[in-house]
Amino acid sequence: MLSTPLAEGAELTTMEPWQAAELAAFTDRNRAHLEPWLPWAHTVTDEESAQRFLQVYADKQARDAGRIFAIRLDGALAGGMIYRLFDTEQGSCELGAWLAPEAQGRGLVTAASRRMIDWAVGVRGLARVEWLVDPANKASIAVARRLGMTHEGTLRSLFEMAGTRHDLQVWSLLSHEWRQAPGG
Ligand SMILES: CC(C)(COP(=O)(O)OP(=O)(O)OC[C@H]1O[C@@H](n2cnc3c(N)ncnc32)[C@H](O)[C@@H]1OP(=O)(O)O)[C@@H](O)C(=O)NCCC(=O)NCCS
Repeated sequence: MLSTPLAEGAELTTMEPWQAAELAAFTDRNRAHLEPWLPWAHTVTDEESAQRFLQVYADKQARDAGRIFAIRLDGALAGGMIYRLFDTEQGSCELGAWLAPEAQGRGLVTAASRRMIDWAVGVRGLARVEWLVDPANKASIAVARRLGMTHEGTLRSLFEMAGTRHDLQVWSLLSHEWRQAPGG
């Protein structure tokens, strides 16, 4: 399997429709942790729906419009990363991330995000990387800050999830800021 090391025992790897059963089991185990923040954690409920979710990203990848990756700890699925949007015409992309509770606190998503920003900016020449986050999601906001992103504003009542409307903060990083950042 294709893989990039993130830390001791941790790697960022491909995630494809044939791995739907593994994603379904991961989502079942971690649903209470993921559901408050991630719309897909409400709709991925079995292998078939996980397969549909992964196929959306396989199709996006084929169109160069998005990608999904797994974060693995000692080979086991521990989280995921997405370019939810990847727009080469506009020169921008949006990152997303999740971890199982036991995989938090090791810097895995920060490290994976750095790899993905390096690729988006350094290899693909994008000008802007976005991170959209619920204002109540302190752990995710901390990732955006750690990456050196700027909070640009808040999109109010943007979408409905589980019967509640949600705001989203928009954080972003521009290519020149990334090149000037330590480790960028
Ligand atoms: C958001 C989420 C991915 C953040 O996970 P996280 O583990 O806090 O983020 P990272 O992997 O970047 O790790 C950072 C933590 O590891 C610690 N850490 C340890 N070694 C580190 C290293 N080498 N580099 C950076 N941080 C390190 C940091 O101090 C930080 O812990 P702290 O918050 O207690 O200070 C996770 O909480 C999650 O999956 N939540 C549910 C889904 C979700 O909200 N997704 C985002 C939607 S916008």
